[in-house]
Parts: sequence; C-alpha cells; structure tokens
Amino acid sequence: MRRTLIAGNWKMNLNRAQAIELARSIAGGLRENSSVEVAVFPPAVYLDAVIAAHPGLTVGAQNVSENGDGAFTGEISCAMLRDLGAVAVILGHSERRTLMGESSQQVNRKTIAALNAGLTPIVCVGELLEQRQAGLTDEVVLEQCRTSLAGLATEQMERTVIAYEPVWAIGTGHVATPAQAEQVHAAIRQWLAGAFSPSTAARIRILYGGSVKPDNAAELLSQENIDGALVGGASLKADSFLGIVRAAEPQAVA
Ligand code: 13P
Repeated sequence: MRRTLIAGNWKMNLNRAQAIELARSIAGGLRENSSVEVAVFPPAVYLDAVIAAHPGLTVGAQNVSENGDGAFTGEISCAMLRDLGAVAVILGHSERRTLMGESSQQVNRKTIAALNAGLTPIVCVGELLEQRQAGLTDEVVLEQCRTSLAGLATEQMERTVIAYEPVWAIGTGHVATPAQAEQVHAAIRQWLAGAFSPSTAARIRILYGGSVKPDNAAELLSQENIDGALVGGASLKADSFLGIVRAAEPQAVA
C-alpha cells in the first residue's frame, strides 16, 4: 500500500557536470515499472540543469524559504522550485536544525508553504546521541513531529513524507539496527494514528536515513514500518545508490 521511496540527498557536493552525470547514470540504471519510487535532491543551483538533462527523474530541493516572495536575500521560494520543475523538498534536516538553528516551528511554516505550493515535503526528525543515551528518543522525535507537522489537515499530512534520521547515524557509518529504527518508526506511526487516524497513519511513508548502504538497506527496508530510505553519502555514486534501489525491490527482501 505504501510505495517504497529511495531518496538521494546530495547535500553540498558535486559540481555541475558531476551532478548532471550522476543523474544520467541513475536515470539510466532505473528499471521500468519498478515498484520503487526514486528521487534525487541536488544542490539548488544545479536543479535546473539536472531537471533539464533528465526530465524523467523525480527531483527535489534540500531546503526552501517559508516566505512567498520579497526582501529575503539569498532565499529560494516554493514557487521558484516549482518553476524549475522540482516536485519535492527536504525540510528540517538535522544539519539545518543543528548548523543553521532551524526550529520545528520554522520547519512547520516551511512544510505548510511547500504543501500550499504543491511540493511534497520530506520532514526530517531525529535524536542526538546524548538524547538516545538518556532514553529520550521517542520523546524528542515525537515532539519534533508534533511541532513540525502542527496544523496540517489530513489531506496535507497524507501528501507529506517523514524521514527518521538519528543524528548519530548520519555520515558516521553507525547505522541504526533494523530493530532500533523500526521501534522509532512504529512510535511515529502510532502518533500519526492518534493525531490523525489509523487509516491516514497507514498511508504515510516514513523513511529511514543515516548511513544507509547497499549492504544494510534490504534488512532495514524489510521492517514493517520502514517505507524507504533517505540516503546521503551512498547517493553520490550511481552504483551504490542503485544498489540501494535494487535492495528495495521486493524480490531482494527475504
Ligand atoms: P548518510 O547516508 O551520509 O549517513 O546521510 C544521511 C542523511 O543525512 C540523508 O539526508
């Protein structure tokens, strides 16, 4: 019922030619009629080039302004992303929360702006290592969900994707165990069932992110409440990204 989504977050990597080439290799390696949905999130300045070079690929941005237009130097609006042909946007990534001080309230405003513009928001949540060690994981993650997704209508929530990315697993090679990830995904889905309804909760995709690689993807994705992956480092090489896509195809999962 929930279509698996494998999303590549390229972060602030690659030059223009490399971005176009990576998109070309990924687009060329996708199977027709695959059950898996694939999306890539290049740096904003390369969105235009990647979309123009590979119109069939689903492409999104890594951030967006909460504002419509006007005096916001350096910002990019949802309408501008739509204008380029972007269809999705990653919001509240832990790097933006910790390095740029983005709050869940701000993520909430961006999520609503994205939904109003017809973009699919991928809203990221996740605990720090100290919070996990203090037994606060569910509390932290569910509070991020409550605030980041506040005020969404059911129809809007059903157009939103959640990504659980434990901060200690991002770029560290310390992937969450499938059981650790599944426990948090199940808690998020249970929260969704209460905040919206069980049928809405059953429709929403919850991705896992944090050191996903071709060799650990199948086991993570076989968990009941893990509906895809948000991939950083391993999305920068077509081979490893496509390896994760293959691992998500049903026959790959034991
Ligand atoms: P890594 O896959 O490099 O750990 O990054 C995960 C991530 O932050 C994706 O958004």
